[in-house]
Amino acid sequence: MSGGEARLVDVLDRHRIIVCAGSGGVGKTTTAASLALWGALHGRRSIVLTIDPARRLADSLGVGPIGNTPCGVAPEALGSLRSDGSGTLTAMMLDQKGSWDELVTRHAPSREVRDKILDNAFYRQLSQSFAGSQEYMAVEQLGELDACGEYDLIVVDTPPTQHALDFLEAPDRLLAFLDRKIVRWFVRPGVTAGWSTLQTMNKTVSFLLRKIEDATGVVALGQVTDFFGSMAELFDGFEARVERVTALLRDPQTAFVLVAGPDEQILGQVDYLASQMSERHMPLKGVVMNRMHALLPAVEADVRSAEAVADAIEPRLREVLGGSDDEGRPAEVASQLASNLVAWQARARGDALRTELFRGGLPEGVPLVQVPDLPSDIHDLGGLASLHRFLFGTVD
Ligand SMILES: Nc1ncnc2c1ncn2[C@@H]1O[C@H](COP(=O)(O)OP(=O)(O)O)[C@@H](O)[C@H]1O
Ligand SMILES: [Mg+2]
Repeated sequence: MSGGEARLVDVLDRHRIIVCAGSGGVGKTTTAASLALWGALHGRRSIVLTIDPARRLADSLGVGPIGNTPCGVAPEALGSLRSDGSGTLTAMMLDQKGSWDELVTRHAPSREVRDKILDNAFYRQLSQSFAGSQEYMAVEQLGELDACGEYDLIVVDTPPTQHALDFLEAPDRLLAFLDRKIVRWFVRPGVTAGWSTLQTMNKTVSFLLRKIEDATGVVALGQVTDFFGSMAELFDGFEARVERVTALLRDPQTAFVLVAGPDEQILGQVDYLASQMSERHMPLKGVVMNRMHALLPAVEADVRSAEAVADAIEPRLREVLGGSDDEGRPAEVASQLASNLVAWQARARGDALRTELFRGGLPEGVPLVQVPDLPSDIHDLGGLASLHRFLFGTVD
């Protein structure tokens, strides 16, 4: 990367699709919405595909709890945020349960096949429990948004997973599962003969069955063969589709941005994560380190130990509190506040240290931005916009 420090703002400028990856609970949804808002404020037709927004955030983005149709955020709402007026913000909620059904509906060659699949107990189980189904549906939905051509910035929030890589693996895992050979095998005549016959046939077969059983918990073979029988009819279109969305994830227009917290385990595994991502041709383009505990330099100045910090700060706090009418116990409150502050500083130092170690392990040219743990939740457009100076500004 030429021209000095890598910046997150350039990552957004140079890509049309931003996928916010990372394990759950770190602020992925908030970050995704904030990135999309930034695009909208800078003239782009921007959409955020969000997965599990907190209720108040969903309300202020205008996405209801039902359905997964895109909702435009009112232009007046953007206008109050120093927008140049040419961009738009749309939000959309991924409704996982509906999406599988939609997918089947879209690809089924006939109403009969569609109903047969939708009514199949194995299908219902699969669509709810298949590992990676939620991740896959996010990718699938991304493909739709890309194809419609209405957006020039698409920000994808990803489902809360344990590992940042789960999302990237979902399409491949689904393809492997719906492997053509397996599907063909199941629709061979005679397969419906029964479970026990099958298991004695050969090792591969019983291995496959066990695999399916493990993945789904469904053991009634009749349902399984029925399902694959119906699936075979819509599989051709489906496979092509999975390949198309996988290609979209690998497209140079797509950037993966990792959202992480400074206390996460993942921080120790950045080398692994980055190499796994580039192996999948989905290279990491940026990192948002969210909810950093801010260091207070004034406190840090020349006191070393926790006691010294407390000692230094306590008299000052007592002075301030002395003027208040806190039931005449300013000293006690001051000492509690002082020890709180000391604990906070310790966390802040830990956060800073881990973040620097993490930064050292990042591939060259991948920007890392830090967002502080703000005093209150982020639940409206103003709150999302308040993150911009940390995400895109000069604040490090
Ligand atoms: N930097 C921050 N400062 C304060 N609160 C934050 C920050 N980032 C996220 N939050 C809050 O944390 C909660 C979880 O955030 P969310 O984006 O839903 O996480 P995730 O999608 O990773 O589970 C939300 O209530 C959100 O408002
Ligand atoms: Mg979320």
